[in-house]
Amino acid sequence: MTTRYRVEYALKTHRRDQLIEWIKGLLAVPFVLHSQPTGVFETPRETVEHMATTVRRRYGEIMRDVEELINDHIKHQGAGKQDRSKLKLLVPSIGSFFTPLLLYDAFLYQDQKRMISYRRFVPPSFNDVRLILNTAQVLSLTRSGHTELITFDGDVTLYDDGQSLLADNDVVARLLFLLSKGTKIGIVTAAGYTEPRRYYERLHGLLDAIHLSNLPLVFKQNLIVLGGESNYLLKYDDGHLDRLMFVPRHTWILPEMRDWSLEDIKSLLDIAQIALQDCVTNMKLDAEIIRKERAVGIIPAHGVKFAREQLEETVLAVHKILEVSSVGQRVPFCAFNGGNDVFVDIGNKEWGVRSCQQFFGGIDGSKTLHVGDQFLSAGANDFKARMACTTAWIANPRETVQLLDEVRLLEELNEQKIK
Ligand code: IMP
Ligand code: MG
Repeated sequence: MTTRYRVEYALKTHRRDQLIEWIKGLLAVPFVLHSQPTGVFETPRETVEHMATTVRRRYGEIMRDVEELINDHIKHQGAGKQDRSKLKLLVPSIGSFFTPLLLYDAFLYQDQKRMISYRRFVPPSFNDVRLILNTAQVLSLTRSGHTELITFDGDVTLYDDGQSLLADNDVVARLLFLLSKGTKIGIVTAAGYTEPRRYYERLHGLLDAIHLSNLPLVFKQNLIVLGGESNYLLKYDDGHLDRLMFVPRHTWILPEMRDWSLEDIKSLLDIAQIALQDCVTNMKLDAEIIRKERAVGIIPAHGVKFAREQLEETVLAVHKILEVSSVGQRVPFCAFNGGNDVFVDIGNKEWGVRSCQQFFGGIDGSKTLHVGDQFLSAGANDFKARMACTTAWIANPRETVQLLDEVRLLEELNEQKIK
């Protein structure tokens, strides 16, 4: 039966975040009932204030209710019955929460910055809700103590797509500050290279700044890079020109990762390569196939820009083929749209973040925050990190800087409160 729902589902499911859409829908009701678009031509100023106060109260009540539903879901999680929570019925795609989310306080904080309650024509948007969720997560992490590990995606999160982390990037000072507080940092990127030099080329602004800083060596060594999603671990090496050295894989991989045999890896990449080639042929893409030790991808010919639809079609087609293959059941993989390329990597960022947690002695998911830009369910590689820890979804490197400033501010406020 092709109901409207199914059509919508097939067309949009991979481009929607169900929790955000649901919260947006709830906030739309007070917006429709209380915002006063006609006010632009007929009411005095006090009415705008009155409207904002009413709408803020109603938005706030909704955020409190959602916060409670999440607490209830967490209780069910604890009892191993998360499939029976009310939130699960309302938002079927919902997963696990590592901490409660302080949505009410986060709403008040973002409302002050974004003046959401004063808007008369534009209802609370996807970005409003995304940023409220980020703040709620940061608030919750800081109130329960120090965040021990922060992992960052690379492209779009730390630097613009396809670029490198340069010395003048505002994020450098923030990352140095985190290290100076003893926070562990993992850069969990899809970029998979077999030489440290290639990582140095992408990250030299940060690596050189760490080298030149007067941080104690133990703090400098709290930076690691997890490349190829979960394939290569490099640790900071002050004495080396590339400032990084590979840690032998057998010493850091998790027990489950030992089951990914070389034979299976090769066969998964062979299937992926054929599927990618098919897409290149069918859609007449001017692309080159890149096969690596633990990844295969397509990159555009010089100067070519693929359409979003072509990239998404390729990801979804390849993902489907791998998902139904027998090797795809044995070895985790990640097929994703990298903005102007498509890659299939062995493993994914769940394993990447977990490897960082283990490397630093077993840090819990509730003490770890992963910051990334790709959180849609298909074709996005940060999504899987949600299985390993708390997350923040940013849209560009400037937002990462803002988020880190927020972490600092809220931690300082919290410390003052404790004193
Ligand atoms: P991320 O945003 O830091 O995860 O990096 C994603 C980008 O890394 C992709 O869009 C590719 O352009 C690039 N890249 C380079 N090598 C690889 C690889 O082996 N697998 C996946 N992506 C790669
Ligand atoms: Mg990215």
